[in-house]
Amino acid sequence: MLQFDDLRLRVGGTPILRGVTLEVAAGEAVGLVGESGSGKSMTVKSVVRLLPPGSRTEGAVRFDGVDVSSLDAAGLRRMRSRDVAMVFQDPRAVVNPVRTIGDFLTEVLRDQGVGRTEATRRAARALSEVGIGDAVRRLHQRPYELSGGLLQRVVIAAALLTGPRLILADEPTTALDVTTQEEVVAILNEQRAARQVALMFITHDLELAAAVCDRIAVMYAGEIVEVLPAAALHAGARHPYTRALLNSRPGAVAPGERLRTVPGVPQSALTAPPGCVFADRCPHAEARCREVRPVFDGSAACHLLEAR
Ligand SMILES: Nc1ncnc2c1ncn2[C@@H]1O[C@H](COP(=O)(O)OP(=O)(O)O)[C@@H](O)[C@H]1O
Ligand SMILES: [Mg+2]
Repeated sequence: MLQFDDLRLRVGGTPILRGVTLEVAAGEAVGLVGESGSGKSMTVKSVVRLLPPGSRTEGAVRFDGVDVSSLDAAGLRRMRSRDVAMVFQDPRAVVNPVRTIGDFLTEVLRDQGVGRTEATRRAARALSEVGIGDAVRRLHQRPYELSGGLLQRVVIAAALLTGPRLILADEPTTALDVTTQEEVVAILNEQRAARQVALMFITHDLELAAAVCDRIAVMYAGEIVEVLPAAALHAGARHPYTRALLNSRPGAVAPGERLRTVPGVPQSALTAPPGCVFADRCPHAEARCREVRPVFDGSAACHLLEAR
C-alpha cells in the first residue's frame, strides 16, 4: 500500500534523508525507531508532503502505487482527509483550544457533507471506542478541560473517524506521563488492528515498537540500516547499530548499574561519511566500512553481514 523507493530529501540543500526504502502493507504496523535527528519524522511527513519550505525530494513515495509528488492540491487534500490520518506528539498543538471537542471531531465529517446529527452521533461513538465514557458531555467540553492523555485519545478518535487506511503516529505518547502512555498506545493499537488500518509508529522506545508493530525499521543518519520482524528484535537483530541500541535500553542493565549508551557521537545525514554511516561508532568496522557505502539488502545495510 505504501512504498518508499530510495527516497532522498534535502532541505535548503542540506541532506536529511539519504535513500529510504521501505514498504508498508495494508493493515500492517511498522515501527520506525532511531536516535533523535535520524529522520523519522521527515520520513512520515513525506507521505503527506508536510515538508519544510525549500524541501527537494528524489526517489518516490507511493500510496496505492501513485507517486505522492504527482498529486495535485485536491488529490493531496483527499489523501490527508480520507486515506491517511496523523497523530502527533502534542495533542494540544492539534486541537483548536477555543472550540469544543465536538466541533473538532465533527469538522471533517461535516466537510464531507455528513449532516450535523449524524456527525455528532458518529463523534460520540468514536469517543466511546477510544475508551472515553460520558461521550456526550465530553463533546461539549473544550481542550483545557481534558488531560493530555484524554486529549490524545480524542485525536486518535478523530484519526479513526474518517475510516483511514493508514495512520502515521509520530511519538504519540512522548508528551504524556508513563502510565497514560501505555493506555493510549494500547487503545491506538487495539482500534487500528480491529479495523485493519496500517500504522507507521515512530518511537525511540524499541520495546514499545516491538510490542505494537509487526516489523521494525531502524533509522540512522537519514537512512534505514535494518528492517526486522518485531518478534525477532532481540534474537534476530543483525546490524551493529541495532544491537548497540538494544544494549543501551534501560532494561539491558541491572537496576542501579550505569546505563550504557551507544559510544561515539551520532552522525547526521549532513555529516555522514562516504562509507557506512555507523562506521565511526561500530566496534567491528574494517577499512572498507569507512570507504564504501554498504547496500541495503532488504534486511540490513552492513558489509560485515554480506558474507553470512
Ligand atoms: N524544518 C526543518 N528545516 C530544516 N531541517 C530540519 C527541519 N526539521 C528537521 N530538520 C532536520 O532534519 C533532520 C531529521 O529530522 P527529523 O526527521 O525531525 O528527525 P527525528 O524525527 O528522527 O528526530 C534533523 O537533522 C533536523 O535537524
Ligand atoms: Mg521526530
